[in-house]
Amino acid sequence: MKMNIAVLPGDGIGPEVVEQALKVTKAVCEKFSHELTYEKALVGACAIDEFGDPYPEKTHELCMKSDAVLFGALGSPKYDNDPTATIRPEQGLLAMRKKLGLYANVRPVSIFPSLIERSPLRTELVRDVDFICIRELTGGLYFGRPQGRSEDGNSAVDTCAYSRTEIERILKVAFEYAGKRRKKLTVVDKANVLETSRLWRQIAKEMAPGYPDIEVEYLFVDNAAMRLIQWPSSFDVIVTENMFGDILTDEASVISGSMGLLPSASVGLYTSLFEPIHGSYPQAAGKNIANPLATVLSAAMMFEYAFGLMKEGALIRKAVAASMEAGFVTEDIAMDGQKARTTNEVGDWLVTYIKG
Ligand code: IPM
Ligand code: MN
Repeated sequence: MKMNIAVLPGDGIGPEVVEQALKVTKAVCEKFSHELTYEKALVGACAIDEFGDPYPEKTHELCMKSDAVLFGALGSPKYDNDPTATIRPEQGLLAMRKKLGLYANVRPVSIFPSLIERSPLRTELVRDVDFICIRELTGGLYFGRPQGRSEDGNSAVDTCAYSRTEIERILKVAFEYAGKRRKKLTVVDKANVLETSRLWRQIAKEMAPGYPDIEVEYLFVDNAAMRLIQWPSSFDVIVTENMFGDILTDEASVISGSMGLLPSASVGLYTSLFEPIHGSYPQAAGKNIANPLATVLSAAMMFEYAFGLMKEGALIRKAVAASMEAGFVTEDIAMDGQKARTTNEVGDWLVTYIKG
């Protein structure tokens, strides 16, 4: 198969982890005789430095004409501590999501047996954890208007807005996922307070009879945050709005023992995008210590979701699991007494495994 991908390393550790995912992608393509072509482009702080724009038109055009986008992370401390900065790297990510129509962010959370001890939760609580969080990605507080400051600078507003169309399409994705999995859907909202949440809940209730084999439960977001810790294996598919999904998936990532492990796929109207859920981790940038596995697993999702290549995705997952079982991992997940490997070494190990 011909695979033409856009590679956006981004900022911080982005370039290092994307490099490993790219190596792995190349190795898999060689093994299965796929014809891979790719082109790199800038997004985030590096794009501001170069073009004064965190998501330059050139980058967007590349994404639009590619079959998939492999993305690292973006963000820079240069902007984080300056509340008056008007151009921010994060705007690049939001613009990319919006312009590519990526309304569904799929974040699977599962446990690697060799890492179970690293979870802050007790083993018996996390052993059977296997769920998917579907986060709405192009609406809600992130994009609602009005948004901004009053003229005197002393009041600020963000708006949470959702239309029926936006809610229906993300719920449809969620119902369909649940149908292919254990047939349980948890709709997370704050319907006791927010009107947008009441609309979500109303639409979910209208749609539910269309999926008679799926058990639907409704949870308030505060309660969901609690249950993720108390009984995480009770979830199968979670669907929620943008900001709730942002917060809950960071919480969920910790369950697996390291944030450096969770991949994601963003899908929608145009080209799909694959990225780790962790950020740009600037403190580690350039040190060759970042965990590349979340990005490598995002590449696995790319094979599966963007190209329907399931065997290829499975081989990558197998390689990742094998590296963990062999203890060939970066410092964030190395066990006591185990030698920590570099970002690059882990990438090379995976490539060797895949070729073998
Ligand atoms: C994420 C990130 C982004 C978000 C930031 C970097 C804008 O935290 O992908 O979860 O909030 O969506
Ligand atoms: Mn986040």
